[in-house]
Formats: sequence, structure tokens, C-alpha cells
Amino acid sequence: MTAIQTTLVLGMTADGKITAEDPKAPRDPDPIDYAHLEHEVSQADLILVGAGTIRAEGGTFTIRDPELLAGRNVRGQSPQPITCVVTRSLEISPDLPFFQQDVERWIFTTGNGLKHSSSVASLQKRADLIDLGDTELDWDRAYTLMAERGIRKVVAVGGGSLSAALLQAGRIDDWWLTIWPIIFGGTTAPSPVEGKGYLPANAPHLELIETRVIGSEVFLHYRTLRK
Ligand SMILES: NC(=O)c1ccc[n+]([C@@H]2O[C@H](COP(=O)([O-])OP(=O)(O)OC[C@H]3O[C@@H](n4cnc5c(N)ncnc54)[C@H](OP(=O)(O)O)[C@@H]3O)[C@@H](O)[C@H]2O)c1
Repeated sequence: MTAIQTTLVLGMTADGKITAEDPKAPRDPDPIDYAHLEHEVSQADLILVGAGTIRAEGGTFTIRDPELLAGRNVRGQSPQPITCVVTRSLEISPDLPFFQQDVERWIFTTGNGLKHSSSVASLQKRADLIDLGDTELDWDRAYTLMAERGIRKVVAVGGGSLSAALLQAGRIDDWWLTIWPIIFGGTTAPSPVEGKGYLPANAPHLELIETRVIGSEVFLHYRTLRK
């Protein structure tokens, strides 16, 4: 394993949903959770984000707080972390606002995606396209490449499919889960970890290492216990 620390940062409702059943339904702004996310992302050399989230939200998270930007400067980090989108298909519209944002962009994808996506030529001009496997992304190769390029701290911001892939690959060191004081309900609304799921006997276990409460919001910090 390479010496890259990976933190997953996600918010969920008190009933465990990361979006409403209708993911396009607007959500009220949440300044407390935003500040928490901004602080965590400000530590990162690279943000990992699933293609589903970039398609749904159109762009990546950027740091604006002057103190956090100054902290990055002191640590020798660029003003914004690299944003790396993860996609098998490479079916991402080059017209998304993401491609206009003032950030360095990488895309982890597959040979199959590079072969079949109709947007390869446009995406190549806007991001560093990195082939990490024929049809499935090889996370060992991804982490070796990141280490070779000087990445030490990764913050993964979801969604649930990306979390499942990173968990399955044994790459999540710690988790920040925000519990929003709200209920979305719904049978198909996604949760922090999608994928095939685990039987209880094989389920990954966590250790709680820190909690914070601000108003009605709870911030839970766990580390993944290695088997
Ligand atoms: N509450 C929160 O904190 C939070 C955080 C993030 C997102 N969200 C919400 O969650 C929703 C999106 O979640 P999601 O689970 O549908 O999407 P996601 O995890 O953001 O993206 C899923 C896509 O990522 C790619 N992907 C995932 N695992 C991969 C792997 N191992 N190798 C290669 N590519 C992989 C695939 O892209 P291709 O289909 O292109 O192959 C897959 O369809 C959005 O509504 C978003 O707003 C909420």
C-alpha cells in the first residue's frame, strides 16, 4: 500500500439518505456542513468524485475561505486541490460547468471508456485522461500513479457508488459522516455506500474516533478497522 491517506466526507439525513428520492430536488443550503466540508477538502491534494455526482451537480467543490487558502499556501499546496473524476464509461459532457472551473482536472477511466466515449477528443483538451484498466478501474494502479505524482492526501466526496468502490478496494482510512437533522425517506434514495453491499459476517467495521455537535448537526469521525 502507498502512503496516501484517504478520507471519505459525506453528509446524510437522520434516516441515512445522501440525496432525496428525486435527486434533482433542490436542498436548502447548509452553512454548517458546508464549512466542515470546506475545511476537510482544504487538507486535500486531490478530491476523488464519482461521475454520477459531477453529472448531477455540474461542478466540483472549491475552497473560498481565505484562512484555509492561506493554510494551503503555507503547506506548499496549490490554491485548489486537483479534482479527479472516476468513470468507467467516460460519458461526461464537456459542456459541464466543471470544465470551466479554475482547477486542475484528472479523469480516472478505462480503456473501454476511451475507446467508446463520443467525447474523448473534447475531454482530452480539458482534463488529464488516465487509463487504469480495460473495463474495470485498477485501484492499485490508481494509488501508485497518485503517489508517483506526489499526492499524499485524498478526500473522496462520494457519491455512494464511488464510496462502495473505494471501500471494496480497502482504500478508505477514515470517514467523516455528517448527520443532517432532516428525513428524506424513500425506498430508492441512495445511502453513503451503494454497490452490492455486505453480509453482516463480512461487513467492514469502524471505530469512532471523534464526534462534534453543532446545533442539531452531528459530525462523526470514524476510522476503518483493518481485518
Ligand atoms: N450527501 C452527500 O454528501 C453527497 C455526496 C456526493 C454525492 N451526492 C449525491 O449522490 C448522487 C450520485 O451518487 P451515485 O452513487 O449515483 O454516483 P457517484 O458515486 O458519484 O458516481 C457513480 C459513477 O461513478 C463511476 N464509478 C463508480 N465506481 C467506479 C469504479 N470503481 N470504477 C470506475 N468508475 C466508477 C461510474 O461512472 P460511469 O457511469 O461514467 O462509468 C458510476 O456510474 C448525486 O445525486 C449527488 O448529488 C451526495
